[in-house]
Amino acid sequence: MSSVTCTAPVNIAVIKYWGKRDTQLILPTNDSLSVTLSQDILHSKTSISANKGYAQDRLWLNGIEEDITKNKRMHNCFRETRALRQRMEKEDPDLLPLSTYPLHVCSENNFPTAAGLASSASGLAALVFTLAKLFDLPTSMTDLSRIARQGSGSACRSLFGGFVAWEMGSEADGSDSRAVQIAPDTHWPELEALVCVVSDAKKGTSSTSGMQQTIESSPLMKERLRVVPGRMDAMKQAIKDKNFQTFAELTMRDSNQFHSVCLDTFPPIFYLNDTSRGIIQLIHEYNAANNGVYKAAYTYDAGPNAVIYATKENMKEIIELIGHYFPSSDEKKSTYFTDPYNVLEGKGFSN
Ligand code: DP6
Repeated sequence: MSSVTCTAPVNIAVIKYWGKRDTQLILPTNDSLSVTLSQDILHSKTSISANKGYAQDRLWLNGIEEDITKNKRMHNCFRETRALRQRMEKEDPDLLPLSTYPLHVCSENNFPTAAGLASSASGLAALVFTLAKLFDLPTSMTDLSRIARQGSGSACRSLFGGFVAWEMGSEADGSDSRAVQIAPDTHWPELEALVCVVSDAKKGTSSTSGMQQTIESSPLMKERLRVVPGRMDAMKQAIKDKNFQTFAELTMRDSNQFHSVCLDTFPPIFYLNDTSRGIIQLIHEYNAANNGVYKAAYTYDAGPNAVIYATKENMKEIIELIGHYFPSSDEKKSTYFTDPYNVLEGKGFSN
C-alpha cells in the first residue's frame, strides 16, 4: 500500500470567477485573480492511499463517507492523474502499477465546509496535489492547475502561494486555461487578511449552479465581462506596485459587482446577509473617516462571510472595530487573522 498526506491553502479572489463557457471542462467566462491565505489556520488536509486490495475508489469528507459514484469532477482528477502515471509505468516497468489500484481518500477542512470560504478550492487542490505526490508525477504546478481546474475552477489558483491569476484561455480543449503566479507571498508581506465567519451554515445555492443561473439569466453579466479585463490589468499593476488604494477599490468594486450579478440573476441569488452588509457599511465609514484613503477592503464569495484585506499597521484597529460593532455571542462564529508570516486566531463575533 502507498499512502500520502498533503495540505492545500484557501484562496480568496479579489477579481472573481463567476461563469463558465464550458461546464464539462470548467472553462471560465473571465480571468480571475486571488490571494492565497496562509495554510496555518485555513487549509484542507487530504490523505490518499492506493491499495490493490481495495474494492473501489472511496472518499471520506470530514470523517463522513460520501457517495462518489456520480462525482464527475473527482473522477476527472483521478482520470487525468492516473493517465499521467500510466504513461510513466509504461516507460518504467519497475514502477508499482499504482494507476490500476483503487484509491481511498480522506479529506478534512479545518474551517466551515461550503459556507462560502472556498472549501472546494482548497479541497480539490489538495486532492490533485496529493495524487501527484502519490503517483510521483513530475508534472509542473501549472499543468496540475489545469487538472485541479477540472475538479473545481477556483482550485487551480490554490496550487500557488501569493498572488495568483487564473487565465481563462481561448482554446476549446482548455489547454491554455491555467493558473499562474503573479507575485510570491513574500512580495507584499504588509498585506494581511481577516476572515470573518458570519455564518458557518452551508450555503443555499452552490457556486456551480449559481454561476450557471447567472450566465443564463443576468443581462448585467455582459457588463461584468466587459469591465473585468481592464480590472485584471489594473489589479496586477496594483499588486506589482503594492498600491493598496487601487487594490482596495478594485477588490470592493469587484465583490459588489459579483453580488450585483447574483441579484440580477432570475430568480435572484442572495449570498450576503444583514451582518455582511453591516460590515460593508462599517468598512466604508472607516475609510471615509480617514479622508477617503482606504485602510481596509472587504470581499465576499458565495456566502455571507467577509474577508477583509488591510495592511499590517491597520489590522489591529480593524479587528477591534469589528469586535466592537459585532460582538461575539457564539463560539462558532469567529475571525481569523492571517498573513504569510504571522497567524493569530481572533475573537468571535455574532450576527
Ligand atoms: C465566488 O470554484 O466553487 O468563490 O468551478 O463550479 O467548482 P466551480 O465553482 P467554484 O466557484 C468559486 C466562485 C467564487 C469566486 C472565486 O473564487 O473566484
